[in-house]
Amino acid sequence: MKKLRIMLVASEAVPFAKTGGLADVAGALPKALKELGHDVRIVMPRYGSINPHQYNLKSLPRPLGVPMGILGEQWCAVLEGKLPNSHVPIYFLEHILHYGRQALYNDANGVGFLDNDNRFIFLSRASLQLCKMLHFAPDIVHANDWHTSVVPLLLNTLYRYDPNFQHTASILTVHNMQYQGLFYKGAMDVLGIDWKHFNMHELEWHDHVNFLKGGICHATLWNTVSQGYAEEIQTSQYGYGLEGVARHHASTLRGIINGIDYTTWNPETDKHITAHYSETHLSGKHTCKRTLQRIFGLPERDNVPVFGIISRLVDQKGIDVLAESMTGIMSYDIQFVMLGTGESWAHDYFSHCTTVWPEKFGCYIGYDEALAHQIEAGCDFYVMPSRFEPCGLNQLYSLRYGTLPIIRSTGGLKDTVENFHEKRGTGTGFCFDDLNAHALYNTIGWAVYTWYNNPTAYKTMQKNAMKKRFTWEDSARKYLEMYDEAIVLKRTELHAP
Ligand code: ADP
Ligand code: GLC
Repeated sequence: MKKLRIMLVASEAVPFAKTGGLADVAGALPKALKELGHDVRIVMPRYGSINPHQYNLKSLPRPLGVPMGILGEQWCAVLEGKLPNSHVPIYFLEHILHYGRQALYNDANGVGFLDNDNRFIFLSRASLQLCKMLHFAPDIVHANDWHTSVVPLLLNTLYRYDPNFQHTASILTVHNMQYQGLFYKGAMDVLGIDWKHFNMHELEWHDHVNFLKGGICHATLWNTVSQGYAEEIQTSQYGYGLEGVARHHASTLRGIINGIDYTTWNPETDKHITAHYSETHLSGKHTCKRTLQRIFGLPERDNVPVFGIISRLVDQKGIDVLAESMTGIMSYDIQFVMLGTGESWAHDYFSHCTTVWPEKFGCYIGYDEALAHQIEAGCDFYVMPSRFEPCGLNQLYSLRYGTLPIIRSTGGLKDTVENFHEKRGTGTGFCFDDLNAHALYNTIGWAVYTWYNNPTAYKTMQKNAMKKRFTWEDSARKYLEMYDEAIVLKRTELHAP
């Protein structure tokens, strides 16, 4: 296979900046592509929270000019580094006004910054300007989510006849259909493209500019992060208003499940946990359970199942339904630990729960990577009642750690967790369909019952789960197939009369 030149554009990437799974993907997929022999590079903002010295970032000799429509040309410095433990170059755009703040997208009240349109038009436009400055003529520009979804549109308009991009096909990966980048239509003048693109088939959405819609319409190919979610977004329940657009562009839509990084998420080597274990030697998991109980101040008991959740505490994750079923869930003889940040009502409610059920419920409101690993290792079950889940990573970590996922059957959760079949003794978790407090309460009840009364089935499932693999190498190969397909489509378009 030909060695491809790929520029991946993302608003966050591990370990530099992360608010969710997008960062995990942007930090891992390029490494896997590189290992398969391709020339892949990344571009993202240098947020105030990223310390250039910590990552040994070096300034490129020249600044980068970025035309911003009626705002005129804006300039930024470009810092170059490498994704840790790899040879993947990563370029950071340094612009104090756009990215000097510590936070990525929102102010302290969780409200999106008012200049997010300009900030991410800048990132999108700069990614193409940077390719030119580096004399890097990509086969593929790979955009991710609304922040960079105007890239395909720019390639089809302002850069259409640019010699650097004559053979460039565009890919848009949608990690989340709920966040669309909806802005005042004046953003058209900053994009600098003709107003004729402000129409219902491209950028316009209820008299606003919709970045994600523009990307879906213009990408050579686009994908979501599971096959299940690719189908769901074509329905009104999951399309967040763009289901018609998704259906209209279904022929260019693909579904590719994410991988996880098994060097970081491996109970045999994990540096954050107190004891290591494997599917054949599980005793370390009991030690991890004790540690976890101690961390959360819960009674140190072996003979009780521990449930865990690590999540953004937002509507997408079904946190409201969990809150609604708490009284029921706490009536079981179990322990439950939570790690997360998000909506303020959830902070208040779940913190309060620790005073109502101090022997059963522990909660840490905050973001803590090490604690996330300890929870995955120390729990018996992991709870994920998502309203929608494009892929989901925590259920994949849980499988690897022998922590059986309890999931609502949606999107990537449905594609990766197999429901327990009592008669056959198969499965890797416990699944339910309807998102309501009863279904969650009952499914947790089923898990509790199985743990206490059918330990053989529990152990078999645990072993099945730990053997499952969702590697980045597999996912990267699927992305390469999609890239190839996009390149062919682009070539066909060039030769069209
Ligand atoms: P999403 O991107 O929708 O939030 P994913 O399951 O794809 O959901 O990814 C979430 C990632 O963020 C996982 O790696 C998870 O462990 C991590 N995470 C979420 N909240 C926290 C937290 N409070 N502390 C540590 N890690 C967290
Ligand atoms: C989004 C989705 C999540 C997915 C992640 C990475 O944040 O909510 O399901 O795993 O992107 O693709």
